[in-house]
Amino acid sequence: MNICVLGAGYVGLTTTAVLAELGHDVICIDKDPDKIKQLRQKKIPIYEPGLRELIENNSQRITFCTDSYKGILKSDAIFIAVGTPSDQDGKPDLTYVLSVIEDLSKTIISYKTVITKSTVPPGTNEMIELLLMKKGVKRKYFDIVSNPEFLREGSAVYDMLHGDKTVIGLKKNDSRSLPVMREIYNGIKAPFIVTSLTGAELIKYANNAFLATKISFINEMSRICEAYGVDITEISKGIGADPRIGPQFLQAGLGYGGSCFPKDLQALYYAAVSKNVTAQILQAVQSVNETQIDFYMKKLFAVMHDLRGKKITVLGISFKPNTDDTRYSRAIALIEKLMNQDCRLFAYDPKARLPEHVLEKATQAETLEESIDQADCLILATEWDEFIQLDWQYVKEKMKGNIIVDGRNCLEPDKMKALGFEYIGVGRG
Ligand code: UDX
Ligand code: UDX
Repeated sequence: MNICVLGAGYVGLTTTAVLAELGHDVICIDKDPDKIKQLRQKKIPIYEPGLRELIENNSQRITFCTDSYKGILKSDAIFIAVGTPSDQDGKPDLTYVLSVIEDLSKTIISYKTVITKSTVPPGTNEMIELLLMKKGVKRKYFDIVSNPEFLREGSAVYDMLHGDKTVIGLKKNDSRSLPVMREIYNGIKAPFIVTSLTGAELIKYANNAFLATKISFINEMSRICEAYGVDITEISKGIGADPRIGPQFLQAGLGYGGSCFPKDLQALYYAAVSKNVTAQILQAVQSVNETQIDFYMKKLFAVMHDLRGKKITVLGISFKPNTDDTRYSRAIALIEKLMNQDCRLFAYDPKARLPEHVLEKATQAETLEESIDQADCLILATEWDEFIQLDWQYVKEKMKGNIIVDGRNCLEPDKMKALGFEYIGVGRG
């Protein structure tokens, strides 16, 4: 099938690569000419394991361009995968989606299946359908499908090829789209979950909100464990053995970041409030996440008292390992809190770069050795394997001080203390 993907971000690029792998001819469109230029030069603008190889192996079926007109005209199915970031008061910004609707309204002159992959507030797909008709697109020339993604950055390719479900939201009387979606995803084993347009939108938000709830729950439990001198990792193991709970997303630490959880929680909260529904759990999940970092800061100050002039190194800048994405990274939120402590602030990450606004007060070390050398304190903020596998004896010798803040509970307190470190975690017994 000829497919057009609008948006070459994490989701658009992964969708393009996987659909080509499934045998489709894909035109991937992006408004950013530099991004398309890089892609045409076989440079992948984001770090996502397996994505480069998949694009290279299917290059004969993939075209990158900036002209959405050509891409839409030639295609039977159109995926909307543009960004839906939060605006300044936390509401989803649909500017990019609306700009894509504008392009579609000028180009649909034969039947197309328009598929919204981007995460959009409940009711948006219904709005897209009405907007296309209002802009003159004949109703017989399109159907709208809501097909949200459940990709984790750092494993997006794997997740798309081996997902646990394919969620398909349809209009009640739409009999044309389901066969099209089955043809598109032919080769992917994940079961179809067919629901309404709004049902699919809410499955996406509820999925993310529940995962974030698990994280805030275990982070609140880490605070209780701290008070009782119990190791939170043992609690996670204990409750995770219950199949109704499951062991995943019970890793306590600095909290959740990324381009999805923070914005999707806020979007779902606003969706509830806009219908006069109070969303106490969603509020609590966000509040625990916002304040978790303060527990680490409080424990650091209890040990270091005064950070002035001290070399503090934050290990990890990305919001989680195996990605270069720093959107809503808790490591950066931590760096921002340290910036006004007059310390000598360093950060190191295998892939991610410090954002401009912190560079006036924080230095990005180009090597791990440089970041560790003569440090008074190391803060492990993102659990890259490179950090977990460190020779901590060697680290101890290179450092000036001996304070380790384990922001992701990935080190063994007893082992670190035996090496002479002052180990700081939250709820580590
Ligand atoms: C995005 C949303 O952020 C996420 O919530 C949703 O689930 C999927 O789409 P992501 O791929 O990370 O995820 O977005 P981003 O990395 O911001 O990429 C979006 C791309 O769309 C950008 O490259 C941007 O240049 C492009 N774009 C934006 C267009 O091509 N056309 C537009 O009109 C606007
Ligand atoms: C998430 C969802 O997992 C994915 O299904 C959805 O499509 C997009 O949002 P992503 O944001 O890429 O994916 O990363 P994820 O692995 O879910 O981690 C999100 C954040 O939660 C990270 O900051 C991570 O550090 C944190 N996290 C995750 C925890 O703090 N504890 C955990 O146990 C798991």
